[in-house]
Amino acid sequence: MEKIKVGLLGLGTVGTGVVRIIERHQDDLQRQIGCQIEVAKILVKNIEKDRTVEVSKDRITTDPDEIIYDDEIQIVIEVMGGIEEARDYILRSLDQGKHIVTANKNLMATHGREIIKKADEKKCDVFYEASVAGGIPIIRPLVESFSSDRIHKIMGIINGTTNFILTKMSEEGVLFEDVLKEAQALGYAEADPTADVGGLDAAYKIAILATLGFHADVDINDVSVEGITKISKQDVQYAKQLGYEIKLLGIAERDDERISLSVQPTMVKKSHMLASVQGAYNAVYVYGEAVGETMFYGPGAGEMPTATSVVADLVAVAKDMKLGVNGLRESRKLSEKNMKSENEIFSKYFVLVHVEDEVGVMAQIAQQFASCGISIDAVIQQPKNDKTFTEIMITTYLTSKANINQVIRNFNMMKAVRKVASVYRMED
Ligand code: NAP
Ligand code: HSE
Repeated sequence: MEKIKVGLLGLGTVGTGVVRIIERHQDDLQRQIGCQIEVAKILVKNIEKDRTVEVSKDRITTDPDEIIYDDEIQIVIEVMGGIEEARDYILRSLDQGKHIVTANKNLMATHGREIIKKADEKKCDVFYEASVAGGIPIIRPLVESFSSDRIHKIMGIINGTTNFILTKMSEEGVLFEDVLKEAQALGYAEADPTADVGGLDAAYKIAILATLGFHADVDINDVSVEGITKISKQDVQYAKQLGYEIKLLGIAERDDERISLSVQPTMVKKSHMLASVQGAYNAVYVYGEAVGETMFYGPGAGEMPTATSVVADLVAVAKDMKLGVNGLRESRKLSEKNMKSENEIFSKYFVLVHVEDEVGVMAQIAQQFASCGISIDAVIQQPKNDKTFTEIMITTYLTSKANINQVIRNFNMMKAVRKVASVYRMED
């Protein structure tokens, strides 16, 4: 029987899952594509490392050229991570006419255009479903299922590690550093977890989703990024008190042709679909002009969920090979990016300020909001108890990012304000 030979770059969390799925589901895969799939060679960094799947030693190498220049290998799966080496190996594989499947959002959000251009020239496929939201099919729906609609908003919990941490902080009141270790042990976190907790991992993903959903030439540099490291236990408790959960959201919005992209901790109202997404689960909310609200939900990280997306891409390449249409699907014309200014980005906000316990301070706070043209929705002054300062929580109606930044600058100059403790965007 005919056989498709695959080269695998990486045998870590995802690579191991890929080997397992190809082995376990071989019969089903064969039925779908009409031939056998064989992982012929696997690239690793450390050849001595113990592996949790059985692979014969002669299939493992530390030399990428053994895959790139092996004429029998037709498809290269890149699940090693990192940017420069992965880019080099992929571009050289494309030069050899090999099709690419990758789970690497860092790479696709920074060099995606270059890789897709090369693949077009070489009539090769490049698929990267696993790069966003692990096991959730979202890239193919955005590109294919929504092609008839005009998408205005994509908003998602697209980092499993941080959602796992925030869920534990909300449910168990634990400290963020302690939960991170658990997320790493479960294989959700990146090799360098600062990309997860700092918001960069989610930023890569929202850049990819916005490029595809808005057909716009945006990239990682267009995303304003804030991670979860400053979220305190108290913020989580105050959010709950108001009927919200704090979630790290990637948000892409388009009005007419103007776009905004951000990753930021956001207070999401408990009744919102995204508020109930727990643990390492991800969810992507897509609002289309014609379809209205939709949501895609599932496991966003981890060995087997991510590997299912990778192997599904492999099947797509194999089917294209059978039809002789590789490299014909990726071509698309992107519009020039047209980013919104802070005056055009609107949201509700939560602000927590620590102030001196003095006559008239509340009036001064309210006056600052008024002077910046911000309408207050609610104000709660917490009982002082044994603290030396007073805490005031304010929630606003819709206002611009420029206005909220101005009021915070004003607070920071007031004698009666000890500090602006927290500021969160709110989503109802
Ligand atoms: P990982 O566990 O750190 O595994 C990386 C693998 O690549 C290891 O086998 C490593 O070799 C090998 N490798 C790394 N750099 C190499 C180099 N320069 N030369 C040769 N081999 C190299 O990573 P992972 O979690 O599987 O993630 C892989 C990719 O999938 C990343 O792009 C990640 O962002 C993406 N992704 C991961 C998840 C997830 O849940 N983990 C989900 C979606 C997407 P050794 O084993 O010898 O060290
Ligand atoms: N580190 C990523 C996460 C893996 O936690 O979501 C999936 O891309």
